[in-house]
Amino acid sequence: MNTFAFIIHPIDPKKDVQRKFPLLGKLLPVAAINFFSRYFPPVYISHITGVRSEATGEEVEGWFVACPFTPQRMMTLPPPVVYKKIIQTGRLAERLGAQILGLGAFTSVIGDAGVTISKGLRIPVTTGDSYTVYVAVEAARQAAQRMGIVLNQAVAAVVGATGAIGSVSARLLSREVPEMILVGRRQERLDALREQIEAETDTKVRTTTDLSALRQADVVITVTSAIESIIEPHHLKSGAVVCDVARPRDVSRQVVEARDDVLVIEGGMVKVPGPVDFHFDFGFPPGKAYACMAETMILALEGRFEPFTLGKEIQIEKVQEIGHLAEKHGFRVEGFRSFERPVSEEEIERIRTKAQRTGG
Ligand SMILES: NC(=O)c1ccc[n+]([C@@H]2O[C@H](COP(=O)([O-])OP(=O)(O)OC[C@H]3O[C@@H](n4cnc5c(N)ncnc54)[C@H](OP(=O)(O)O)[C@@H]3O)[C@@H](O)[C@H]2O)c1
Repeated sequence: MNTFAFIIHPIDPKKDVQRKFPLLGKLLPVAAINFFSRYFPPVYISHITGVRSEATGEEVEGWFVACPFTPQRMMTLPPPVVYKKIIQTGRLAERLGAQILGLGAFTSVIGDAGVTISKGLRIPVTTGDSYTVYVAVEAARQAAQRMGIVLNQAVAAVVGATGAIGSVSARLLSREVPEMILVGRRQERLDALREQIEAETDTKVRTTTDLSALRQADVVITVTSAIESIIEPHHLKSGAVVCDVARPRDVSRQVVEARDDVLVIEGGMVKVPGPVDFHFDFGFPPGKAYACMAETMILALEGRFEPFTLGKEIQIEKVQEIGHLAEKHGFRVEGFRSFERPVSEEEIERIRTKAQRTGG
């Protein structure tokens, strides 16, 4: 049987440490968890079984292994310290027998997006970012349709547009909308992306460093590496769809509390084919995984033990290829979630009605 492993890490120190070590997570304050994480070894989390291809009937098995650093630690410690810990975690995956390793959330964001980590390991490494882009755009498309937004008449925006996932998501979404707003922090990089999109499409492109521009967007994909939420209730247009791919989230919880006329969904969730059991609760309903986890599973099912996505330059061809392979094996974007709970059809209908009343 082909095998894979996937590196996860705590995002919310107390809540996520409690998922594996209930007492430790309960007793230690956040500052202590952050401090001790530097000296904590990689952690074996669980055995993943039952990932079965709908196309071939073949199964793969894998493991979750955890790097003990939180995003805040990964962004503040010197990169060599962070690389070393992630490579140690990868070596644990090698000892377990994994043939390919996926990098979850911030382990693929820091530094050169997996290139240095890959050099420290014998097995191939993939960030999962190609399939993450594919799923982000597909989820935004599906949510827009449910909200009655016609993409070829809509204004779309990407926040974190100059990032690895953001830039390719923006290029793909630009093919479907007449107007695109690129939001980022560095104007010159935004302008370079605008020129690239203008050369590839007829879409009208605007760039800005001001989140208030989102008040003009019907569909938003947000995918920054900010460690705190950045999108607040007053930033959004009535009737908008926001697909939040970032982990930790970009959208503040206050948005769902204060804006009942806006649909916020998690942008990276897919249904895994087969009777999958992760033997670990990472906050998703049974049978669902993050797109980046799914990319590693798809490559294992294909027997493609290669560094499929590495580095900050994600190729559109790779996004399309992994999307086709995912569909072949039965991975699907299915059902919406918002802030850790499912979004029902009735709820979407209520949001739509509210937005129509407020003129969205
Ligand atoms: N859901 C999934 O399956 C999945 C999979 C992989 C990754 N992710 C998440 O996706 C996010 C982005 O990953 P990536 O690999 O694309 O990262 P990246 O290449 O580092 O890009 C991040 C972008 O965010 C911008 N940014 C950072 N802090 C910001 C802030 N405070 N305000 C506004 N913009 C800010 C950066 O701007 P500068 O260029 O100015 O620094 C950069 O353009 C991360 O949260 C990661 O955990 C999710």
